[in-house]
Parts: sequence; C-alpha cells; structure tokens
Amino acid sequence: MRNFYLRPVLLIVLLFCLKTVSVYGQTDASIPKVVEKNGRHALLVDGKPFLILGGQAHNSSGWPGMLPQLWRAVEEMHANTLEVPIYWEQIEPQAGKFDFSLIDTLLTQARDHNARLVLLWFATWKNGSNHYMPEWMKRDAAKYPNVTGKNGQPKDSPSPHAKATLEADVKAFSAVMRYLKQADKPHTVIMVQVENEAGTWDSVRDYSVSAQKLFEGEVPAELLKPGVLKALNVPPTSGGSWQKVFGDRADEYFHAWSVARFIGQVAAAGKAEYPLPMYTNAALRDPLTNPPATNYESGGPTDNVIPIWKVAAPALDLVAPDIYLSGSERVLKVIELYDRPDNTLFVPEAGLIPNNAKYLYEVLAHGGIGFSPFGIDGNKQKHSAPETADRLAPYAQEYAMAAPMMRELAQWSFEGKIKAVVEREDHGKQTIDLGAWQSVISFGTASAGNIKANPQPTGKAMIVQLDANKFIITGTQCHITFQPAGKNAGRAWQYLKVEEGSFENGTFKPLRILNGDETDWGGPSLGAEPSVLQITLVTR
Ligand code: DGJ
Repeated sequence: MRNFYLRPVLLIVLLFCLKTVSVYGQTDASIPKVVEKNGRHALLVDGKPFLILGGQAHNSSGWPGMLPQLWRAVEEMHANTLEVPIYWEQIEPQAGKFDFSLIDTLLTQARDHNARLVLLWFATWKNGSNHYMPEWMKRDAAKYPNVTGKNGQPKDSPSPHAKATLEADVKAFSAVMRYLKQADKPHTVIMVQVENEAGTWDSVRDYSVSAQKLFEGEVPAELLKPGVLKALNVPPTSGGSWQKVFGDRADEYFHAWSVARFIGQVAAAGKAEYPLPMYTNAALRDPLTNPPATNYESGGPTDNVIPIWKVAAPALDLVAPDIYLSGSERVLKVIELYDRPDNTLFVPEAGLIPNNAKYLYEVLAHGGIGFSPFGIDGNKQKHSAPETADRLAPYAQEYAMAAPMMRELAQWSFEGKIKAVVEREDHGKQTIDLGAWQSVISFGTASAGNIKANPQPTGKAMIVQLDANKFIITGTQCHITFQPAGKNAGRAWQYLKVEEGSFENGTFKPLRILNGDETDWGGPSLGAEPSVLQITLVTR
C-alpha cells in the first residue's frame, strides 16, 4: 500500500532529475551553460552569470609562435576571454590522424593568463569558403564538392549537401570535443563557435543536380508549422515545393535550411561528446532595407532567417551577429534583432574601431552575454607595443572598469536591471525612463554648465536600477541629470548622495562623495575614461 503512494512521488522526482540532465546526456553542475528565464539569458560559468569581455585573434594568430602577442593584447585590454580559432587543416592533417597539441597549448597558456577561451572551429565554412579544410579534402573536389552556381560553374563555397563533407566534419569536431572533455576539467573553454560565417557569397544557393532535386521537393514539415511560417511572414500553407511556399525568398531559405541542418548536425555530434554552449556567427545583411540575398552572404544566420536556423539547428545555443556595419541606427537594429526570447545576444566580433566600444553598453542593456572586438593582436610576428595599445585603448578602458564588477554586470543584465544609451551621429540628448525618475543624458565635455560636443559619437551611459531611487551609473563623455517622473512628477528633488568608487568582491567601495562643482550643474559629468558612480536621489 505504501509503495502505491510512493510511486508517483518517485516518478516526479525522477522526471525532475531527467529534466535537469542535458538532452546531450551529461550532468555536471559546473559545466558552462546558457540559461533562459522570462525571455532573458545568462551564460553560467562556474555556476554564476558571466560576462564575456572578449577579444578575438586575427585569423592566422592562433599558432603557438604567435600566442605571446595575443596574450599581451589580452592583458593590455583587460579582457577575460580570448576568442581564438582552431584549424581543421592543422588538427587533422591526414584523414583520421588528429593532432591536439594546439588545444593543449591554448589551454595551458590561457590558465597561466587567468583567461577563458572561446574556441572557433574553422572547418567546413570560414567566411563562406572551405579554405580551412585539410589538404586531403581540398584535393578531392569530387568527394567534397563546392556549391554549383546558377550558371553551372563551381563557386568558392562548400556544398551543404555533400554527405562526405558532413561526415568528415562530424568526425573531426566530435574528436575535438571528446578531447576537450578530458583535457579541460577546469572549464577554461566556456563556449565553442561551430564554423565561421557560414553560407555562400556569389550564389544564393547550390544549383547542383542533387540540390536542385531537393529544391523541387517538399518543404520539410518542421518549417510548415504555423509559428515558423508566421515568423517568416509567410501565409499558412499545407505545403508544397520551396518555390511554392516561399516564392522569391525560396532560394535563400532553401540554402539557409541546408547550411543550418549541416551545422546543426556537427554541433549535435560535438555536444554528444561534451555539451559546452555552442553558437555560429553571421555575416550580416543590412538590417533596415530587406535586401535580396544576392547582396550578402546567403544561407548564414542573417536576421531574416533566424527562425529557420532555430528549427534546423537546435543544438546551437545561439546565432550571433558579427558587427562590421557602420552607423548607430543599423548597429542598434542588429542588436535588437538578435536579442530574442529564443536567442541569446552575443557579439563575437565587432570592428576594432573606437566608435564600436560603446555597443558593449547596449549589449548589456539587452541582456547579452558578451562582446568582443576582432583582431586584437598586431598580426605580425613582431610588433611594437604602442601600436597595439593605441588600438585597444577604447576597449581597454571599458574592460578595466567592467572587469572588477563583471559578475554583478552579468547578473544585472540577466535580471533586466540595466538601461543604456549610446551617442548617435547627431550627438543629440537622450533620456532613460527609470519609473519615478527620468534621466537626461547630454553628450560632450561638460564644464560649468556648458557642453562642448564630442568630436566623434563615442559617448555612452549605462544605468543600473538598484531600487526606486538608487542607481549605479557609468559611461564616458556625457553629462547626466534627472527629472522627477511618474509618482514623483512635479516634486522638488536633489541628490541624496553621489559616490564615485568601484566594485570590490561584490561590494561598491566609495572613493569619494561628489558634491558642489562636481554635481551642481544638474548632475555629474563623465569624462574621457569611465568612472563608476552610485547615485541616490531624494524628493523634498
Ligand atoms: C569576419 C570573419 O568572421 C573574421 O574571421 C574575419 O575574416 C573578419 N570578418 C574580417 O577581417
């Protein structure tokens, strides 16, 4: 009788345990993972939200002889994570013979430098081509074919329909992840990028005979679900050929599905060995004008085909935008488009220009898990220190500010407590709504009530709302003031306290209280380097 009552309870406990076991078959509380709550995300490292303050190596800088300059750059910029390629051509120089010495070197050196790694699997795709395939594959185009263009000519891009290529990639990536699992017990590697900017330039899809046959066949049932069709702006349909269902987007959607299915299988095989968070990155399209796929790299996870990638490659935790667009309107739109309840925002690459450092703030405001400029090293065997230091300075100063409070920033971002503004090209004032307060941010160098415009739109401000009247604020090249709003509207107010300081072991440590000239012109000014303020407001 007792057993009869116990059984349902045991079943519930068992089901609960099963739910916490990854579908990829491993439970390890400390393994890095991406979690979601109420449509917001966090990357857990050692069990707590982690913010990637990253830097990515140049493409050919992951070789042991090049690593000293990479570590120098990581240190100079106060980065906590190095994104570094691992090369299929180096790891499997002969079919089935693997060399993991590069991974060993990276692990040892990263630990020596107290840094984490994001490994970039440069394999079947690198910027739409197959240039990182091992030589034995490059020499055998019949077995590992390229995409065929509309005119019947091969393009410089691997076909996602090539079974032998998929099998070879699955085998090699599985070997990498199997090796990593036993070589990296401390979880120095926190995430793996599967391929790099996959897709095809110069052809919207593969027009080979076998691909054409698939194209003329039925659209897979997974894509016909009402939610997926709605997300793609396609009217409900019971099915049909790609052309029939997707009209003038059919070629691109077919290629996106094919590339995503391929990469999804590679990622799933790797996760079956060792389920680290995995993602793939996108060469973006213009996010404002819905251009045809002939204008960009077709098949990759561009904003318009994210719903296809989600269905075709569920083993990927996220798809990520590489930000090389210019203009704040475009960049802010991209950040908005990749922050979705079903997609964690992560910027694995951004052009290493001073103007881009400000987007770290927007990423945090969107609950993102990290940011990384591309090409942090000098990309030469020997380089002079000042060259690197100058290029890295705009990022180094932000990372130096953020590093001591990295865990707090990650947690606040996960909880949706961060708001941010970045200076636009018109240098205009911006506001942040904080419930009973509105913050007004003017960009420039402030002195005795006058604001001198910034030469470049590099100003930014981030506000963390700790409670109704208390905020942590950081930023550069701006002046901040507040206005009572909401239930405070119309009331007199003043600063109860404006403290300047820094975070140490999870606690704000004030260096001084700002008052008098430092706050009397409506509020504090933030200079060329970010400072951290704790501000408490009061109504009177
Ligand atoms: C984006 C790619 O993902 C990087 O590997 C690199 O090629 C940059 N473009 C350009 O330098």
